[in-house]
Amino acid sequence: MTDILRRKAALRERVSGWKRAGEVVGVVPTMGALHAGHLSLVEAAKAACDRVIVTIFVNPRQFNNASDLENYPRTEEQDAEKLAPFGVDVIYVPDPDQIYPEGFATTVSVAGLTEGLCGAHRPGHFDGVTTVVSKLFLQTGADRAYFGEKDYQQLQVVTRMATDLDIPVEVIGCPTVREADGLALSSRNLLLPPEARAAAPALNRAMRGMADKLMAGAEIATLRPLAKAEIVAAGFDEVEYLELRAAEGLAPLPKAERPARLLAAAWIGGVRLIDNIPVG
Ligand code: PAJ
Repeated sequence: MTDILRRKAALRERVSGWKRAGEVVGVVPTMGALHAGHLSLVEAAKAACDRVIVTIFVNPRQFNNASDLENYPRTEEQDAEKLAPFGVDVIYVPDPDQIYPEGFATTVSVAGLTEGLCGAHRPGHFDGVTTVVSKLFLQTGADRAYFGEKDYQQLQVVTRMATDLDIPVEVIGCPTVREADGLALSSRNLLLPPEARAAAPALNRAMRGMADKLMAGAEIATLRPLAKAEIVAAGFDEVEYLELRAAEGLAPLPKAERPARLLAAAWIGGVRLIDNIPVG
């Protein structure tokens, strides 16, 4: 089994040995409950780096809802088993005080990119993400960090943060892994009641339909109400947002006039699902 480290001093010691030997270190930050989406990042990291660290930390600061934090699946043992075949070098599962010691008072906050989409509906979420990710970058000293396009806004925000703070890490985005029925893999899928799980692919299906029409020149403002109605008719409780944004920088777009991304969040069976796809 892969070594599990829980203290930053032990991690630092391990990594400094690798760095002295000139090895390239990759990190895959996660909150655990690992699935094939996470494992695709591990695979990408293994293919390009000499050493790979997977971090598992359910970060309380990025949850804007106490019950979401409480219900978040915690499956460390199974996670370690899933990682075993990949030959990861270290699994870093920091004790809470390794991330947020007594008296911790610093927040890393990215403006602009965090203001719409998930940022508008989850106050404080991205501050929690950028605070923990900056710490994980600094604690691991990784040269490369792997993130999923599944969380497209997060990928953009973390890239901006690393650039702005001169953290010497290259942030690499990897494609979304999906179930055969189109549902994007997510740890929260485990929380879906069976009926909701069966209806959940409707979100991605509606988005793919929209992308075709956007490519043919349709306006998002025209398509949005129809698609929302279709998603709700399929069994969703509410569509939180359904937006067309520039693929780089996330500026709102009326039409797919340049490389664009269609992004959505919607509630089903008490679970909030997000998805996004490229348009053009
Ligand atoms: P978590 O939701 O565990 O996701 C960890 C990484 O796996 C993220 O980069 C996410 O985009 C990626 N991922 C999740 N589902 C995926 C899928 N279906 N296909 C491809 N990649 C997928 O995102 C977080 O944790 C946290 O915010 C974190 C960055 C760890 C900071 O706490």
